[in-house]
Amino acid sequence: MTVTALIGLQWGDEGKGKIVDATSDAVDVVVRAQGGANAGHTVKVGETSRVLHLVPSGMLYPDTTGVIGNGVVLDPAQLLTELDALAASGHDLEGRLWISDRAHLVLPYHKRMDEALELLRGQSALGTTKRGIGPAYMDKAGRTGIRAGELRDPGLLRARVCEEAASKNRLLASLGTSLVDGEAIADEAVACAARLAPMVRDTVTLVNDAIDADQRVLIEGAQGALLDLDLGTYPFVTSSNCHLGGLLAGCGIPPRAVDRVVGVAKAYCTRVGSGPFPTEDHGEAGQELRDKGHEYGSTTGRPRRCGWLDLVALRWAVRTNGVDEISLTKADVLSGQSVIRVCTGYRLNGEETHTFPGGGDVERAEPVYRDFPGFDGELSEARSYDDLPETLRDVIAFTEDTCKASVTLVSTGPERAQTIRR
Ligand code: IMP
Repeated sequence: MTVTALIGLQWGDEGKGKIVDATSDAVDVVVRAQGGANAGHTVKVGETSRVLHLVPSGMLYPDTTGVIGNGVVLDPAQLLTELDALAASGHDLEGRLWISDRAHLVLPYHKRMDEALELLRGQSALGTTKRGIGPAYMDKAGRTGIRAGELRDPGLLRARVCEEAASKNRLLASLGTSLVDGEAIADEAVACAARLAPMVRDTVTLVNDAIDADQRVLIEGAQGALLDLDLGTYPFVTSSNCHLGGLLAGCGIPPRAVDRVVGVAKAYCTRVGSGPFPTEDHGEAGQELRDKGHEYGSTTGRPRRCGWLDLVALRWAVRTNGVDEISLTKADVLSGQSVIRVCTGYRLNGEETHTFPGGGDVERAEPVYRDFPGFDGELSEARSYDDLPETLRDVIAFTEDTCKASVTLVSTGPERAQTIRR
């Protein structure tokens, strides 16, 4: 197996960072392929927790090569902050982290636009992370974006940033929002370029060469299947394709190169920001899941909305991405619940459906549940599948049966050691 793609199967925050980190000792190259600093991948090594926004999670192992692929929208100042923090704690990535020359830059005017557009949406605001992601992808699709390759030419970079800032100012003025200082943004971009330009290269060739040389490559998805621009809960989605197809295009490899698709799902569901969430629990159980699971956004600190495992949505994500195996995370957080609810269908217009609807129907979907008995006690000491409570194993078997994919890994805590493989 040389190429593994790892995808979030819910609304992001499934614990992908931990799973990537826990599996990356057996990986040569780890690639981020879409999204940007809206992601917050938490990795815990020993006593230290790190949140990585742009650096691939698997890079905390000393010999792994990292790639920020062409599908990523890259905030240069944010990346440097992250690299400096990692270097200060002994993780020097120099010479082993590479940035695609085709990756688009996120600059301060994108963040300003993100805020202005959210304000304009009023009651219908999406609840974005305000990291400038949507406006950067708008520029990419509009063919006006500035790419990382342009970091190599400071004169051109300055001119392009000033030109784009002026164009954004025309839009910001029409939205009645304060304008940006193009020269100041250009100064910052040029300063970042001096440090980042040596890391910029043709990563499409790098990744394809690694595959040809039978190296082990892990493509690390960001966000999740239900936030995918095409297949998620549009318009309450992110602006990239979190789907496997987005990952492939986002690092420039052919579909047939992928040997294994691993999906990561939490044993319950969470969502940050607005949008439909059929199994959301507004009561005590939802609050307990939030408290026990520390469900606060790793990028924005916002409390996450919490609810039960939704097998209609999970099956949709597994099926549309061709997921071979599921890593089930945060199983320990279910401990203490008197009942574990699992959504098996939606009631819509008087009928029960088992497919994930598009459009506004998902807003109106009422969940149909199957209840399993709860369990008590800590799971963090469990080291083998048979150590897990019987009721949890029943939930897992039911999930496998419904989604037609095996659960091959169960995570019972944030530490690398709290990972049970089957
Ligand atoms: P944006 O990606 O910042 O434009 O945000 C669009 C939606 O995706 C919002 O609901 C965000 O909360 C959500 N989102 C974006 N990135 C993540 C993530 O990494 N985890 C969870 N939700 C995310």
